Amino acid sequence: MDKKLAEIRKRVPALSLQVAGRDLVYLDNAATSQKPYSVLQMQTSLSEAASGNVHRAIHRLSVEATEAYEAGRAAVCRFINADSVILTSGATASLNLLAFCFAERYLGPGDKVLLTEAEHHSNLVPWQMACARKGAEVCFLPIDESGEPDLEVFARSLDSRVKLVALPHISNILGVVNPLEEMISIAHSRGIPVAVDGAQGIVHAKVDVQALDCDFYAFSGHKIYAPTGTGVLYGRRSLLEEMPPYMGGGDMVGHVSYGQTTYNELPLKFEAGTPNFTGAACFAPALTFASELREDAELQAYGRKITEYLMEALPTIDGLKLYGVPKDIGRKSGVFSMTIEGTHPSDLAQLLDQMGIAVRSGLMCAEPFVSKYSQTGMLRASLLPYNTMDEAEYFVQSLRRAVKMLR
Ligand SMILES: Cc1ncc(COP(=O)(O)O)c(C=O)c1O
Repeated sequence: MDKKLAEIRKRVPALSLQVAGRDLVYLDNAATSQKPYSVLQMQTSLSEAASGNVHRAIHRLSVEATEAYEAGRAAVCRFINADSVILTSGATASLNLLAFCFAERYLGPGDKVLLTEAEHHSNLVPWQMACARKGAEVCFLPIDESGEPDLEVFARSLDSRVKLVALPHISNILGVVNPLEEMISIAHSRGIPVAVDGAQGIVHAKVDVQALDCDFYAFSGHKIYAPTGTGVLYGRRSLLEEMPPYMGGGDMVGHVSYGQTTYNELPLKFEAGTPNFTGAACFAPALTFASELREDAELQAYGRKITEYLMEALPTIDGLKLYGVPKDIGRKSGVFSMTIEGTHPSDLAQLLDQMGIAVRSGLMCAEPFVSKYSQTGMLRASLLPYNTMDEAEYFVQSLRRAVKMLR
């Protein structure tokens, strides 16, 4: 296993960095992943050699850029078993597009959109904005610190005013896989569509949008080894067909006259302007890398061991409280958020940085959920399959040391 992991890590150059004179221990993967050479090299080679714009000219550079862009889209479709996807600049862009366009078509005064209490701001603020515009209301399904929704409460929340459920596959704080299949089936039994914020889910869970039967699924490329400025929105064709476009401009049109415009077919109707085609093309090598790690049973079992270790070891630190402790540990992904009595998360993160460890601290773009626990911040360590047990152990030892230094 050590040899296999060393080989994988060699393919991701940032993992060999030194920070504060030590080997970097990168545990901020829920914020962004480190990219393998295959992605970095494709990004460079496309920037050097194929800078034609996509879907426009008939010259060779444009054709090659279009082919690379569409190959990126095809790789995404294969990865999530979708017939087609809209390419965006990230999960935030996907969720804003969705909230705006869904609201335009389907929301009116008195309607409700049901979210969970544990949303990232990207799946909260766009809905607040859209509902304010339409006279609709955002309401919230309770989630406790174990990280799991109560399905009976969920079913009871779905009254006739609820026009959409929008929830994370995995919360960026709790790291617990939501029971999407059950929730989608309950919502669909009342005729309510379900949108999934998959920014963390795409990284830690296997996603098959057709088997899940979700109506929308949004995620960012940069959290799953693709470059920044890349994202995806999958949507059920029948709903997308009905929704108006988001932005107007090149590529999203059918015919334009001075008086009126017809729109392009899906997915281009929602892709106005020049996209980040070099970035999107890199979905192909990024998702090949992700699939390779995901399909390696030995690596997956090793990842489960690290999760189990952290779930046991972290609570042995005096005053530490973990958020996201599901009854079934199999539902816990590699995202660990915590607070530690008598210490501030930013001070801990600062000390850990001096020990070569990168973790996240603060409100983690989920201020209402963090505030619910009367906290002004949390500390979060998040792992990917390229992290090692040694790193997890070093993190726990270092955190223990940092807590002692602050008390
Ligand atoms: C659950 C969740 N949703 C949405 C986002 C937004 O992603 P991005 O900033 O890449 O658009 C994040 C990013 O951390 C996230 O964790």
